[in-house]
Parts: sequence; structure tokens; C-alpha cells
Amino acid sequence: MSFRTQPAPIARPSRCHLFGPGSRPAIFEKMAASAADVLCIDLEDSVSPADKDSARANVIAAINDIDWGSKTLCVRINGLDTPFWYRDVIDILEQTGGRLDLMMIPKVGCAADVYAVDALVSAVETAKGHDKRVGLEVIIETAAGIAHVEEIAASSPRLQSMSLGAADFAASMGMQTTGIGGTQENYYMHRDGAKYWSDPWHWAQAAIVAACRTHGVLPLDGPFGDFSDDDGFRAQALRSATLGMVGKWAIHPKQVALANEVFTPSEAAVAEAREILAAMEKARAEGQGAAVYKGRLVDIASIRQAQVIVTQSDMIGRQA
Ligand code: COA
Ligand code: MG
Repeated sequence: MSFRTQPAPIARPSRCHLFGPGSRPAIFEKMAASAADVLCIDLEDSVSPADKDSARANVIAAINDIDWGSKTLCVRINGLDTPFWYRDVIDILEQTGGRLDLMMIPKVGCAADVYAVDALVSAVETAKGHDKRVGLEVIIETAAGIAHVEEIAASSPRLQSMSLGAADFAASMGMQTTGIGGTQENYYMHRDGAKYWSDPWHWAQAAIVAACRTHGVLPLDGPFGDFSDDDGFRAQALRSATLGMVGKWAIHPKQVALANEVFTPSEAAVAEAREILAAMEKARAEGQGAAVYKGRLVDIASIRQAQVIVTQSDMIGRQA
């Protein structure tokens, strides 16, 4: 490690963020009853401008009245370029009694965006005498967001997680697609008459993971729009998990089980990780720094790799 060690992110399961529009209160109880770790009620792009005030009122009532159990509860506020966001922050924090866990800021473009929300949140919490400090989440979904991803990850001690928002990201980057995440028809390599599809989200995901891991923030994959395509969702989620992301959004309830499946380390993966730890413990007792496990090299770095899987599994188990 560098002399500057890597901070640990908050130990909170985030395998799935289930979203629902704040203008559709009939689904709030269904969200609460779902298997998602995090429930995110939206005030931003799934709510039309004419419904912003009524949706905010719905959200305030829902935070106060619905039994959210032990779920992590989040509200996505409107963007900082709108006239809605300050009232989202002030009204929600002033009129709810500490149940809200997180506020998600969309389309963050620089650290100052987070600073502005942090300042307002801090003022309201202090004025109201709240003991609980609301955490912040951000969405990287613009060219500016990905260009400034590291300063954003370092922007506030309140910041807990960062998601890639594929649709707005694609629009902001000028990408030629209307798909929300997943395989893009025209993004392929060609050889000997065959197409080999590649992953246009890979660079942004890897940049987010690196920024998050540097600053102790949880990296998440955002929405997958085609909720009739389970295999496409699973493939996207598996790539995200392989890159180091800890969860994915669900924009329909049927995606919750898929996300939970992918982001819960499998029994086989956990068993193998424990075997690697045991093999390395035996090597250490014999004064060796490296050993052979199932015909392949394991060394002290393998302990860190195995520990990622065991720690994630233990944390999810504790929550269950
Ligand atoms: N959370 C919980 N339950 C939901 C839900 C959600 N996000 N979306 C739908 N449901 C419920 C429906 O009420 C229905 O319940 P029922 O069986 O008791 O009648 C059931 O799940 C099946 O719903 P379905 O008919 O397939 O979907 P729909 O047409 O009602 O809604 C969407 C589809 C995509 C419009 C809706 O899921 C949605 O609004 N998703 C979230 C969008 C969002 O928040 N976007 C912002 C982040 S990208
Ligand atoms: Mg968006």
C-alpha cells in the first residue's frame, strides 16, 4: 500500500437500489416489501415538472408514514440546474423525522455540486437539531461528471455511493444510442466475417470504481432499461461485479432478484475464497509467502482478493 491507505466504504449492503417515481405513491408499499437493500424514491426524471410539488409531498408523507423496516431509504432530488432541488432538500429534511438515510444527487458535474448540497443539508439538520446525518449518493451521468470523477468521489464525508447513469451519460457524451445500458449493436470488433461485441460502458465504470475505491465510496451500476431482457441485465451486472461494483439499480421489481443474485457472492465463490485463505495460512505457518492452490499460484495478494469476497458475504449475511 501507499503511505496513504485506502479507506473502507460504509459496510452496508447495496446489491440493489429499487427505484420508484415519487408521483406514484401506490407502489411505495410494494417497494418497502421488496427484497432490495436500498429503496430510492425519485423526484427527478421519472416525475414530470407539473408533478414536482405533489411528488415531494407524497415523499414526505411516505417517509413519515410507511414502515420501511430495516431498508436503507433514499430520495433522489432534482438536479442543481433546476428550480426544484433546494425545496426538495429543505422540505424533506424539515418535515421528516430522521428516517431518511440518503439523498441522491443526479448529474453531478464537479465537487462543488456536492459541496452545495452538503452545505444546505448541514444547515437544515443543525437548525432542526437532527442527530442523524443524512448520507449522500451521486450519479455520474454527464461528460463533466466522468471528467471530474475523482474530485467528486473526494467531495464530502457524507458521500456513501456513486452510480453510473447510462442513459444521461450516453446523451451527454453524444453517444449514438437510445438504449439504457447493456450491449450496443454498433459497438463491435470485426474479424473474419464475425462480429465481437465490446462494452462501451467499461471505461466509465472502471473510472468510477477507481475513484470510489480511492476515497472509500461504494461504486454502483445504474439502470438497465430493457426489463424484459433478464439475460442482458445479468450479463451487464456480472461485468459490473467483476469490475468491483457492489450493486445495481432496478427500475422494475423483476430486476431485484437478478441484482441480488449477481451481487451476493455465490456459496462456491465463498468456499473457494476460504480455501485460499486456509492455503495461505498453512503457507504462512511454514514460512512461505506463496503456495499452490488447485494448480495455480496464490500469494499474499490472493489473501486480499479472497478477503473481498468473504467480507462481502459476511456483511450480507449479517444484514440477513
Ligand atoms: N417498485 C415496486 N413495484 C412496482 C414498481 C416499482 N418500481 N413498478 C411496478 N411495480 C408493481 C406494479 O404496481 C405491479 O404491481 P401489481 O402486480 O400489484 O399490480 C407490478 O409491479 C408489475 O408492474 P408492471 O405492470 O410490470 O409495471 P408498470 O407498467 O406498472 O410500471 C415502470 C413499469 C417501468 C413504469 C415502473 O416499474 C417504474 O416506474 N419504474 C421506476 C422508474 C423510475 O423510478 N425511474 C427513475 C430511475 S431510472
Ligand atoms: Mg439520469
